[in-house]
Amino acid sequence: MRIYEVADYQEMSRCAANLISAQVLLNPRSVLGLATGSTPVGIYSQLIEWYRKGDLSFAEVQTVNLDEYHGLAPDHPQSYRNFMQQNLFDHIDILPQQTHVPNGLAKDAAKECARYEALIASLGGIDLQLLGLGHNGHIGFNEPAAAFAKETHLVELTESTIEANTRFFESRESMPRQAFTMGIKTILGAKKILLAVSGKEKAEAVYRSFAGPVEPGVPCSILQFHPDVTLVGDAPALSKLKAAGVRICRK
Ligand code: F6R
Repeated sequence: MRIYEVADYQEMSRCAANLISAQVLLNPRSVLGLATGSTPVGIYSQLIEWYRKGDLSFAEVQTVNLDEYHGLAPDHPQSYRNFMQQNLFDHIDILPQQTHVPNGLAKDAAKECARYEALIASLGGIDLQLLGLGHNGHIGFNEPAAAFAKETHLVELTESTIEANTRFFESRESMPRQAFTMGIKTILGAKKILLAVSGKEKAEAVYRSFAGPVEPGVPCSILQFHPDVTLVGDAPALSKLKAAGVRICRK
């Protein structure tokens, strides 16, 4: 595992965007696993800037997103499909058919989960999966649980996630209670993982994920078993991990 420490959110965004850019430059037909939330917004802005400068093209890239709220239409302002359109896809040279997000309106949840897994397999798997980290250690919407969930599945969101994400909705009541998410097995299947973290409110989750035991109560801790993980974090987010003596790379 490589850990890059940077000063702040802006540097975290540039560093993570650099790693994604390197992936696309080395393999223009890369399959990128993408995330939503506040963490990747700056990363996507940086990628858009490099695309506009002519330094980067996504023309042959395929993307698969980690998750989507159950019950939200693709054009709902808070759907993850809409987030991706607004924050990345509408601003780069990727064709709509090359971007994939679980269908939040799917009637048959089990069928949709199977479809999404088959889709990822048909693309040859994920080359680089970008992840953010929940305060409770979740990745995607894999919440703390008694066991690690395997493949793409429908989850009941926990109170802490509802609490954290209600800010994006008009009211707590209007926030969906379920979501489709890639499972832990799906995420671990990615050839490379890039985890981006920023802010001191993530410090405890980062510490528990990488300085503690691997356990389903801290879903991100499973990344300790993945052979190619890069963690890019700002100093506040890495503070507890550093204090525990974990080795940080120099850039
Ligand atoms: C989003 C996702 C979530 C977020 C996590 C952190 O697609 O899968 O796991 O990455 O909740 O969210 P932010 O970045 O808003 O702190």
